[in-house]
Amino acid sequence: MAKINLKLLKNKAKNEIEKAQNLKELNDIFKKYLGKKGEITQILASIKNLTKEKRARVGKEANLLKNFLEKKFSEKTIEIKRKIEKEIEEREWIDITVPGKRPSLGHLHPLSQVKRKTEEIFQSIGFSVIEGPEVETEWYNFDALNIPKDHPARDAWDTFWLRQETGNRKQEARKLLLRTHTSPVQVRYMEKNNPPLRIIVPGRIFRHEATDASHEVNFYQVEGLMVDKKVSVANFKAVIEEFFQRFFERPIAIRIRPSYFPFTEPSFEVDISCSNCRGRGCSVCSKTGWLEMMGAGMVHPNVFKAAGLNPKNWQGFAFGIGLDRLAMMKYKINDIRLFYSGDLRFLNQF
Ligand code: FA5
Repeated sequence: MAKINLKLLKNKAKNEIEKAQNLKELNDIFKKYLGKKGEITQILASIKNLTKEKRARVGKEANLLKNFLEKKFSEKTIEIKRKIEKEIEEREWIDITVPGKRPSLGHLHPLSQVKRKTEEIFQSIGFSVIEGPEVETEWYNFDALNIPKDHPARDAWDTFWLRQETGNRKQEARKLLLRTHTSPVQVRYMEKNNPPLRIIVPGRIFRHEATDASHEVNFYQVEGLMVDKKVSVANFKAVIEEFFQRFFERPIAIRIRPSYFPFTEPSFEVDISCSNCRGRGCSVCSKTGWLEMMGAGMVHPNVFKAAGLNPKNWQGFAFGIGLDRLAMMKYKINDIRLFYSGDLRFLNQF
């Protein structure tokens, strides 16, 4: 009886295994025959109830059947897995010869490029690069630079004042402002560092004024300051000529004109020949053929005093270059507002 049952069982199980379509079905069949309560498991468990003679024979056959089915299961498992892999391969193939999608890469803004180039040139001639705050106090932006309240120069550098919401409004309201130039960093630096010194200060500045092709309300300057026992206008001229020569990588016509700044004496302005119109006159240079690039001069004794230095012991020159104007001349850009437009058609040219 047992023998017949086992043969029938073998054929039935074998058939079912062969017909299984997926791993789940196969697993169910495995449980049915070889699981904890599976038919063959139960037969093996009941062998102990048979007579001694039958026990040996049925036990041997049932074990053979178990081994046989286990082998069948593992063969079928491999077969189904291969089938699945093949299906995936057919469904999800990629053509590795198709050219990839090129990710669009950003790059430095032209003003950042010009800033870096400027820093590189000045560093190579011994200047350190220093930074200062964009939100400044009235003291550093004006008073310490020899521009007391009611000085007419304050009108030329009108700016955005920040209201402080603490204490007495009338007193506090006019204390902080968006700096109108990088010159306040001259005093900040000299307060903490004794001469001799050579620094440049690149940074963003703000002015309350109308915009046009060469004026913005928010732009960049690079301040320069050199202080030592004996520093002259000749030193300034040499430094600035060296800078322009290396920055534009060609001979460049410059002119130094007398000017006025409360924090320098004497003061001058430096123009370069307009590269947009080659000196013929255009909207960038207000039809003069020259574009004003910087203000400069010999550090005023009152500025040394404000920084806690004795003006009898020290001499120095200072200058403030318009970084945007440098970039305009280098790349022949005819409107400063393009730098802040965020227009990729413009930016992608650099
Ligand atoms: C000053 O800001 C002085 N602090 C410069 C200075 C420094 C003089 C040290 C003496 C010693 P001025 O306002 O002229 O000066 O500005 C300096 C440069 O900034 C100008 O020559 C010009 O290149 C640039 N500039 C001025 N106003 C604008 C503007 N609205 N938009 C773009 N660039 C400007």
